[in-house]
Amino acid sequence: MNPYEKLLLQNKAWSEEKLLMDKDFFNRLAHQQKPKFLWIGCSDSRVPANEITGTDPGEVFVHRNIANMVVHTDLNLLSVLQYAVEVLQVDHIIVCGHYGCGGIEAALGNKSFGLINKWLRNIKEVYKLYQAEIDSIVDSKERVNRLVELNVLEQCQDLIKTSIIQKSWHDRKSPEIHGWVYGLTNGLVKELTTIKPDPENIHPIFRYSDDQF
Ligand code: CO
Repeated sequence: MNPYEKLLLQNKAWSEEKLLMDKDFFNRLAHQQKPKFLWIGCSDSRVPANEITGTDPGEVFVHRNIANMVVHTDLNLLSVLQYAVEVLQVDHIIVCGHYGCGGIEAALGNKSFGLINKWLRNIKEVYKLYQAEIDSIVDSKERVNRLVELNVLEQCQDLIKTSIIQKSWHDRKSPEIHGWVYGLTNGLVKELTTIKPDPENIHPIFRYSDDQF
């Protein structure tokens, strides 16, 4: 059997299993989606949003890219963010990195990867902010893992710099921003931060005036 055919067979079995447990499962989901969470995670195949959080289809709106970045010129990320916040009105945004992230590791090196260099450059900028701390770590794996954490914290900050989040905080006091890191070796999530919807949590230079909204 061609490997992709196995996926189609498994899909059929999965669909039948879902219907056995709940005959209205797909009818209900086809009618509307009302997820409470937006997930911004790494594209890494070992970090599937639904599986590691035990959530079903319909529960999590998902955006994934290399190293779970919030890049302000990324139309894809910004469109997902605006739709999730303004239309779906999610109450939580989770930025989830993972230890041993290949994107972070690549950004800490000097090898050229072609087009991907332009993406990794954003991670190098995060490293530069925390260079003294990262450089003081002797073990190379630990260096990667610390930058994974600092990068998640930085991407959470990049979220609250957007007018999308600031307008939503002003209009409906939501969503909360959560920074998580997933461990590939134990399957567990470590919570790094929660940022509550309060303008005081935004660095003053990035805060837009209230009357703009
Ligand atoms: Co990764």
